[in-house]
Amino acid sequence: MQDLNALVAEACREFADIAESAHLEEAKARFLGKSGSLTDMLKGLGKLSAEERKPAGERINAAKNEIEAALKLRREQLAQQKLERKLAAEALDVTLPGRTAQRGGLHPVTLSQTRIEEIFHSIGFDVADGPEIETDWYNFTALNSPENHPARSMQDTFYVDGTDAAGKPLLLRTHTSPMQIRYARMHVEQYRHATSMPPIKVIAPGRTYRVDSDATHSPMFHQVEGLWIDENVSFADLKGVFLDFMRTFFEDDNITVRFRPSYFPFTEPSAEIDIAFSSGPMKGKWLEVSGSGQVHPQVVRNMGLDPERYVGFAFGCGIERLTMLRYGINDLRLFFDGDMRFLQQFG
Ligand code: DAH
Repeated sequence: MQDLNALVAEACREFADIAESAHLEEAKARFLGKSGSLTDMLKGLGKLSAEERKPAGERINAAKNEIEAALKLRREQLAQQKLERKLAAEALDVTLPGRTAQRGGLHPVTLSQTRIEEIFHSIGFDVADGPEIETDWYNFTALNSPENHPARSMQDTFYVDGTDAAGKPLLLRTHTSPMQIRYARMHVEQYRHATSMPPIKVIAPGRTYRVDSDATHSPMFHQVEGLWIDENVSFADLKGVFLDFMRTFFEDDNITVRFRPSYFPFTEPSAEIDIAFSSGPMKGKWLEVSGSGQVHPQVVRNMGLDPERYVGFAFGCGIERLTMLRYGINDLRLFFDGDMRFLQQFG
């Protein structure tokens, strides 16, 4: 019984040295388990005389209580340490600035397109949308570019698998001009039984495609087509509408426009529209922004209208070009590279 104190001291020391709960339970078994040191001693009591047995039993029980108390204390310490480690690992620095959700932004070309739609809507134009995969007829023939016409080579395009009703291969539209025909025919059909037809006043913005790729040409780009057909629409109306469009778009009332004679199969006469700013880095330079003209009688006929009665103008301009001028962008490819440093400037 002499070694009881030593045993208690040994247990306390061992418990204190243990850093893992699992090891602590193993140590417990060595002292208090079925074949542990104290249990052995209790079993030994049977060999003692009746007088000796009681005090010896009391001492052993006292030692057992001490060891159990030491065990309990160490268990609690380890649990506490574990909790502290966990809290430290999950610590939140509430003084850090919050992480806000990243906001997306509209692409500059989309911004321009929306802007153009708003401008034309405000002066009574409808906004129409049409297919990017076109038939040969809408893209060329209906626009007065018959097969083998040299003007077709100006617009080399991408052909896709599949053919139209006439057996001609389908293609990616090279311009938004086929929308003149599509929209006008829809309009004519809609008012077929009416006593008079309201004017056709529409813009059709959207993607267009050509086999072209350099700093100023992309195989995919955007155009906006404009069309106004009625019984007495003139070139003066075109000039008024286009000048107003440019001044509103660029927020500059000093812009001037110039009509330069040109050729397109679907207009007669045809003109390139140039604009000039009266201030800023582009001051005084004539910049080409659009093709235009009076809609060719054959095209009016293809719309299902009588060219003796209906006249009007059309224009088609590149949206990237307008966007580059508006924001001072010098390389068209920036629009399509997906570089966040560029795109974020428009957010
Ligand atoms: N479609 C022509 C092109 O892409 C642009 C154009 C010129 C459209 C004259 C028109 C127009 O409506 O009248 O080059």
